Amino acid sequence: MLDKVKVLLHEVSSYSIKNSEDQEQLRIRYLGKKGIMNDLFAAFKEVPNDQKKAVGQALNQLKQAIQDKLDQAKFGLSESTQQFSGLDLSRPLNEDQFGSRHPLSLVRNEIVDIFKRIGFKISKGPEIEDDWHNFTALNLPEEHPARDMQDTFFIQQNPDVLLRTHTSSVQVRFMQNNKPPIRILSPGRVFRNEAISYRSHCIFHQIEGLYIDTDVSFSDLKQTLIYFAKEMFGDKAEIRLRPSYFPFTEPSAEVDVYWGLNSESDYKITKGTGWLEIMGCGMVDPNVLKNCGIDADIYTGFAFGMGIERIAMLKYQIKDLRLFFENDVRFLDQFKSAF
Ligand code: PHE
Repeated sequence: MLDKVKVLLHEVSSYSIKNSEDQEQLRIRYLGKKGIMNDLFAAFKEVPNDQKKAVGQALNQLKQAIQDKLDQAKFGLSESTQQFSGLDLSRPLNEDQFGSRHPLSLVRNEIVDIFKRIGFKISKGPEIEDDWHNFTALNLPEEHPARDMQDTFFIQQNPDVLLRTHTSSVQVRFMQNNKPPIRILSPGRVFRNEAISYRSHCIFHQIEGLYIDTDVSFSDLKQTLIYFAKEMFGDKAEIRLRPSYFPFTEPSAEVDVYWGLNSESDYKITKGTGWLEIMGCGMVDPNVLKNCGIDADIYTGFAFGMGIERIAMLKYQIKDLRLFFENDVRFLDQFKSAF
């Protein structure tokens, strides 16, 4: 019996598996119900006691050899199937598959570039804020009615942890940690609990600016806004300032830009007036400076904040704001030629 096992061992080691059929044949021949191993183990009972040890060892060796052979083949086969699984290295590139920048990123980059040219630096902050940075430091103490202007998402019903409602919170953080002169721009995502429609969303994007130095006046603010409007909308761009109210600025104004009424979406976006409100602005309230550790007797400053979606809608004639958030490739693909 020992000789027979040795012959089989030789057979197994020289057996070559080229495909899954060979592999299955080997398995059935040896390990199947009526296979050789079962016969051998049955015959093992008859082996005289003095030979049992040697024959037993040889049988285990044979069984192991079969198993190794099958395992190796499995590995080899799956490796080769992977190699040929439709990967055609000679296939030409499909050039249409290049990505495109999101329209909101395009507009954000354009705005950031315009302000960078006059010395503004980018400053970023967290989207999850506390009450102090989002409201209290900005002259909006608890129970202040103007808090209702920005319907807030609180986290886990904790009134101190919220999603920032504007990026003014970033300016608070910057003022606390830096000395004037300050000239920063804070772009970012903001959140307000508003009904979603073609004109508003509960998530949107802002860019806010802050300039603090000695002798900064309202005319500096106005000049900066005119510069921005001409760079962004062309030399003929007109702006108008309407008196307004923000708790963190005094005096405050809302800025409209004249866009004209040349298309249906111009009518829709500007509500038939041709004017589009693009931002809020004003002189930083001395209380805010004090709250952030800046001497309001020495320094003054202006701040402004604008929504990126509104401007992108005008620029690209987009009638429904929800399109920015759906990430429909057919929509995004249209911005490929933009820079
Ligand atoms: N933070 C204001 C808003 O989100 C915008 C703003 C910024 C207004 C700075 C005035 C000055 O509505």
